[in-house]
Amino acid sequence: MLVDEYGRRITNLRIAVTMKCNLRCIYCHREGEKESGKEMSLDEIVEIAEAFRELGIRKVKITGGEPLLRRDICDIISSMPEFQEISITTNGTLLSKLAEDLKDAGLDRINVSLDSLRSDVYRFITGGDVEKVVDGIIAACNAKLTPVKINMVVMKDLNDDQIEEMMEFVSSLNSEEVKAILQVIEVLRLKSLEKYYVDISKVERKIASMAEAVVLREMHFRKQYRVGDVVVEFVKPCKEFCMHCNRIRVTSDGKIKPCLMKEESIDARGLRGKELIEAIKKAVKIRKPYY
Ligand code: 5AD
Ligand code: SF4
Repeated sequence: MLVDEYGRRITNLRIAVTMKCNLRCIYCHREGEKESGKEMSLDEIVEIAEAFRELGIRKVKITGGEPLLRRDICDIISSMPEFQEISITTNGTLLSKLAEDLKDAGLDRINVSLDSLRSDVYRFITGGDVEKVVDGIIAACNAKLTPVKINMVVMKDLNDDQIEEMMEFVSSLNSEEVKAILQVIEVLRLKSLEKYYVDISKVERKIASMAEAVVLREMHFRKQYRVGDVVVEFVKPCKEFCMHCNRIRVTSDGKIKPCLMKEESIDARGLRGKELIEAIKKAVKIRKPYY
């Protein structure tokens, strides 16, 4: 079992498989990767995942960039060692064609970024076409990649008035076989993003007052509210968030990153067996809460 110096058990792994992306979201943090070297090969990804699995990682999330831009994405998923759960975070633009194949490759569930349903707002934020993403989300539901989670990063004067219409959309995706969940995410308070920053506590209070049930998730201590048949989860970085952080990251060029918000990393490229295990342990040892 991996436990850091603060007693936090590391159970979740995020692996970036590419830094390429076909969108250019105004808030993109590139999963904490600055400039990156050559992408890991399928074998390297599988090797690193296996090492983490041996150390007790239970859930893996594939991220990017945009992971569906990798031609071998289905092979990556089907070659993964046995985990309790494999999921992917995608911008959804290529999903309508791939959802079924991803499911067949062994993908359990999916997160799709969708910040607005209005095509002009969506285009301003991402440069992309919202219809493609909506089609992709519907394909993910049809492929039963459940629960389908919709990530909405809230930004001042862009989409902070659109939470309820997003809830309606998410509600329309719900069926007996597929559960859809809305994740309302506070934009990171970076200097460059200051003009978009909005504290999501106010929205959370409003949704809380409408909620019939509340669940506290172990993961990051996030609160989930049930309003009618929609589940809404709020992601707001804070002390509790870091206190309950159980994840670790691997960059697309094979560096282990203890924290998204920090520069530090341990290069695991080319390491195998014992050396790789030692590098992972070292990365866990230097984990410190950011907030
Ligand atoms: N603030 C908050 N979330 C972010 N994401 C990316 N950049 C930011 C940021 N600056 C998250 C969003 C998006 C996913 C790809 O990464 O959840 O949907
Ligand atoms: Fe960044 Fe994701 Fe947007 Fe691509 S889709 S620009 S990786 S946030």
